[in-house]
Amino acid sequence: MVTGPDIDIDATHDLYVGGEWSPAADGGRFETENPATGEPIAEVASATAADVDRAVAAARDAFPAWRDTAPDERGRIVHRIGRLVREHADELAAIESLDQGKPVSQARSDVEGAARYFEYYAGAADKLEGRSVPVGPEQVDFTLREPYGVSAQITPWNFPGNLFARGVAPALVAGNTAVVKPAEQTPLSSLRLAELCAEAGVPDGVVNVVTGFGDPAGAALSGHAGVDTITFTGSVRTGTEIMRQAAGNVTPVTLELGGKNPAIVFPDADLDAAADWIAKGIFTNAGQVCSAADRVLVHESVREDLLDRLVERAESYELGPGRADPDMGPLASEAQFEKVRNYVDLGREEGATLAAGGGTPDREGYFVEPTVFTDVEHDMRIAREEIFGPVLSVISVADEAEALQVANDVEYGLVAGVFTSDVTRAHRLAGRLAAGNVYVNKWFGDTNQTPFGGYKQSGIGREKGLEALDSYLQTKNVAVNLADGDGADLPGA
Ligand code: NAI
Ligand code: MG
Repeated sequence: MVTGPDIDIDATHDLYVGGEWSPAADGGRFETENPATGEPIAEVASATAADVDRAVAAARDAFPAWRDTAPDERGRIVHRIGRLVREHADELAAIESLDQGKPVSQARSDVEGAARYFEYYAGAADKLEGRSVPVGPEQVDFTLREPYGVSAQITPWNFPGNLFARGVAPALVAGNTAVVKPAEQTPLSSLRLAELCAEAGVPDGVVNVVTGFGDPAGAALSGHAGVDTITFTGSVRTGTEIMRQAAGNVTPVTLELGGKNPAIVFPDADLDAAADWIAKGIFTNAGQVCSAADRVLVHESVREDLLDRLVERAESYELGPGRADPDMGPLASEAQFEKVRNYVDLGREEGATLAAGGGTPDREGYFVEPTVFTDVEHDMRIAREEIFGPVLSVISVADEAEALQVANDVEYGLVAGVFTSDVTRAHRLAGRLAAGNVYVNKWFGDTNQTPFGGYKQSGIGREKGLEALDSYLQTKNVAVNLADGDGADLPGA
């Protein structure tokens, strides 16, 4: 059954720079494809370093006027983007589902989240207050929170439209301008969102979109001397590379780099509910979620009971093209499909037992079955490395101490979940888990309003919530002399 709306997608797409559409400097284009079929959808301009220069220049030119726009007016414009996102929700969801592969109802939820980012941050635009600092009668001292200037947004292919909003909304309300480089696998929703920004009244040059590859477009942007702050979501390897490129200009970075997230299940948990949350946590968006429930650390006394429930859920999933709104769509690209298949082979070689899935259905497109491995040992690669696919590892643990040790003994630290009816244990673990976000008796507990980000190699800085604004504002302290004369003593600061 096809339930998604019909949409017309132009056969070719240009770059959006300075409020105008223009091809890449060398006329280059690449195809974005529908991962449910492997068929091309459209050709998109492939930005060169010269195009990135042009986009950064447009953003720099637009910055002073945008910075000086009254905060309430900036807020109104950003709020209008949110309204337009809502008005075009079906269309945006259809574009995302087609280009990325996810079920259209999940794409709708991403679009709802995108609208919420614009609405939420719009209200903050006129509340970005500094502080006054009481240093004594001879000096008036206060802080200002000022925008950085040009914000580079390098986004991945798992939640392209939603992450456009997650970065662009706070960047704009804080008075920055933006250059967005969406992932080459999924450029279409960002291009449509740029149009909606213009329709909402965002001035030319304030939001620019350069579609293209990590090399050259992403690298040119992250090493650009005209970029004042960088927000990146993606792999640790690319995040490290971006940090290195940014270091040349001492450009600050906000990095959100994925995880290997543990879901710890104790015997006193509601096992049906835990299995529901964990299945949702690992199979949503075919597991291509930084905060996926990758590892179950289950007390050995309930391992079989939980495993039965997880297998039952995994085997109930219907797969299909996103537009038909199945339980699970394909992986977003052939490369990701190959990566996930290799991890399934690796799990078998490492001696884990396949309890569900593991296969690839005999059909076109990049589909992998919901997969559950049991008898997973903590030192296996499938238990330590981010797979970014619908592959769950079940590890048994003897007690709370071992659960905590195994949970924390990976290089990542994005999110962690605890399933228990013991409130004391839940709080004890929440305090000790090395993760930026802890969920108790649920998964995906984040909202637009709650700070989100990683410990350890899962990243630097926080997105979402009011804390995200710290990535887009720098503090200036102003000291005004009230004393007579030139002040005899040095302050000794
Ligand atoms: P990636 O991190 O290389 O790609 C993300 C973005 O970075 C894309 O826009 C890409 O064009 C850009 N990029 C690539 N190289 C760059 C460079 N040198 N300078 C600047 N920008 C650059 O991720 P990739 O290779 O597509 O996926 C590999 C793995 O990364 C996945 O299997 C998954 O484990 C992880 N990943 C994590 C995400 C998360 O949400 N934390 C999102 C996407 C991928
Ligand atoms: Mg695509």
